[in-house]
Amino acid sequence: MLYAVELVNLSKAYGNFRAVDDISLQIREGEFFSILGPSGCGKTTTLRLIAGFETPTSGRIYLQGREISGVPPFQRPVNTVFQNYALFPHMSVAENVAFGLEMQRVPRKEIERRVREALEMVRMADRANSRPHQLSGGQQQRVALARALVNRPAVLLLDEPLGALDLKLRKAMQLELKQIQQEVGITFIYVTHDQEEALTMSDRIAVMGHGKVLQCATPEEIYERPQSRYVADFIGETNFLEGRLISLNGTAQVQLEPELSIAAASSERALAQGAPVTIAIRPEKIALSAQDSDPSALRGIVREAVYIGTDMRYVVQLGQRTQVVVRVQNLGAERDQRFRRGDSVYVKWAAENARLLVD
Ligand SMILES: Nc1ncnc2c1ncn2[C@@H]1O[C@H](COP(=O)(O)OP(=O)(O)O)[C@@H](O)[C@H]1O
Ligand SMILES: [Mg+2]
Repeated sequence: MLYAVELVNLSKAYGNFRAVDDISLQIREGEFFSILGPSGCGKTTTLRLIAGFETPTSGRIYLQGREISGVPPFQRPVNTVFQNYALFPHMSVAENVAFGLEMQRVPRKEIERRVREALEMVRMADRANSRPHQLSGGQQQRVALARALVNRPAVLLLDEPLGALDLKLRKAMQLELKQIQQEVGITFIYVTHDQEEALTMSDRIAVMGHGKVLQCATPEEIYERPQSRYVADFIGETNFLEGRLISLNGTAQVQLEPELSIAAASSERALAQGAPVTIAIRPEKIALSAQDSDPSALRGIVREAVYIGTDMRYVVQLGQRTQVVVRVQNLGAERDQRFRRGDSVYVKWAAENARLLVD
């Protein structure tokens, strides 16, 4: 299969420090692919390597099957949109978008047509004659996007392009960007430190930490089946329960305290009895009730109960010292059963929603 972008054992070192540390990725044609990770983990460096602004210390980069190490940035079929979209203030929207094509001496008629098409893609055709200062932040970012699309790159690199926008506008732009990407069919490689943004927009996500790719999968896979504590911790809220393995055959039995053991799903095979393990459970996967005759239900005491609009957020103590966060969706006054601090409760979860992690 021919990939839009393929990275093979790619590294970039600055002195002794590896900003990008032996990463391999295969990004498909037409994919909305996100690189997600905290500040400083190597996201921008990875994009700059693909764009050709940095030279790899080792490893290879293929664009549509072609090795591009010797190809200068302006000859790569790639364009970049940055957070700080520097539009030229003295030029109109149309002139800003046309600028790159004029530098390439594309004929005037063709420039006009392509600028119009690019502005239509981002729904800014009616603002062609405006100046950047007359536009909102979101509109300016769309012009920046049109300017990057007008060259018809095979791959568009986007480096935290919505980072400067406020939350509400950012959410609206996330959906629009995704829609635009589907319409134009260009491969997007989207860098963000915002896990919700990556989950919302992406076909697949590569989670990075300390220069490495820790997991690369669909949003659902990353959220439901994180492979490491780092990934589970970075994506959403998670309860981590530490204990020792009692037994393992399909599901794992784990001892958390002398009087408290729980079951968890596991694909591990070669783990010794008594090995230290961590169980990860999402707060919304835990069910809470006043009475439960199911023998797998655990008794607990509500230590905290906080109303957070969409949900109630509880902290429930199990055993002597184990605590779990539980989130229960607020469905409407009639149907909700609310608990208060000090209430005695039962908690329960499906074993497949408790993940055994061993890192
Ligand atoms: N030109 C450079 N010289 C030295 N260190 C750099 C350079 N560029 C980036 N770094 C370092 O590499 C790491 C990764 O940077 P970067 O790729 O910008 O991270 P991110 O975009 O994920 O926040 C950071 O620790 C940063 O300080
Ligand atoms: Mg960055």
